[in-house]
Amino acid sequence: MNKKIAIVTGASSGIGEVTAHQLVSAGYKVYGTSRRGALGHNTNNQFTMLALDVNSDESVSAAVNEVMRLEGQIDLLVNNAGFGVSPAPAEESSIEQAKAIFDTNFFGMIRMIQSVLPHMRQRSSGRIINISSVLGFVPMPYMALYSASKHAMEAYSESLDHELRTAGIRVSLVEPAYIRSAFDANQLQPDQAQSKNDALRAMLDQHVKQALEIADGPDVVAKTVVKVALTAKPKVRYTSGTLAARLRFLRKFAPAALVEAGVRKDMKLDSWLAAHR
Ligand SMILES: NC(=O)c1ccc[n+]([C@@H]2O[C@H](COP(=O)([O-])OP(=O)(O)OC[C@H]3O[C@@H](n4cnc5c(N)ncnc54)[C@H](OP(=O)(O)O)[C@@H]3O)[C@@H](O)[C@H]2O)c1
Repeated sequence: MNKKIAIVTGASSGIGEVTAHQLVSAGYKVYGTSRRGALGHNTNNQFTMLALDVNSDESVSAAVNEVMRLEGQIDLLVNNAGFGVSPAPAEESSIEQAKAIFDTNFFGMIRMIQSVLPHMRQRSSGRIINISSVLGFVPMPYMALYSASKHAMEAYSESLDHELRTAGIRVSLVEPAYIRSAFDANQLQPDQAQSKNDALRAMLDQHVKQALEIADGPDVVAKTVVKVALTAKPKVRYTSGTLAARLRFLRKFAPAALVEAGVRKDMKLDSWLAAHR
């Protein structure tokens, strides 16, 4: 039987890399992508790396055309490429920085989807899995741009899934909480940082560092992606890991004021801000 063909964006590290490996183990032929392509990346010959910058229309269509030339079909697209801005007050990021994060996390996803959809429509078959975050349903303070980019991804995905169901194509979201990867190191620094906020940013960095010490590894998310790819009747949303499931439960059943208070308490925000007034 012919293998199913998958594209995983951002497969040079973290969640994307482990997902590519786990999809290979599940029987897919995988094309991973990153801006560097195969340069300096060892896939143990399990999957092929292609150069692809999700910020570029030309780069996206060149990579998708190459997979179509080689395989003639695309069964699964995992939109995983993405980055964050290091936790900081929202006004410390310029409009240019807001555009940059949306260009990758949101428009990058759209570029990929628009490029593969005609091929999926032609075969009336396909799966699209978008790697969102718990911040796609619970916005966290000092992570406004990243939260907004993942909320945009969530809305787009849910809308698109409605449109595509009758065409034999499904769209799902995978929502992890903190995951140990290069994500933290790859975040942009706020480009309008003010020295008066240095202590606040240091406190936020420490908070994230502590959370990452007990966080799941990327394998947990990869496992969820494989489960979603293989299930006969996919849902639109899947949390990944126990913390994410707990947050989803709270968001669904707890009163909004309780969730807000929980977010502030977890970050010790009110006591810290009062002490540093
Ligand atoms: N780690 C977490 O705590 C966490 C939690 C929830 C959700 N997520 C989401 O999971 C996804 C993967 O994150 P990760 O933790 O695995 O981070 P990571 O290790 O930093 O990996 C990010 C990947 O995205 C690629 N990438 C970044 N910008 C790109 C661009 N313009 N074009 C193509 N590829 C690009 C990077 O490849 P190159 O730099 O080689 O191009 C890299 O392979 C992201 O969407 C992130 O928002 C992460």
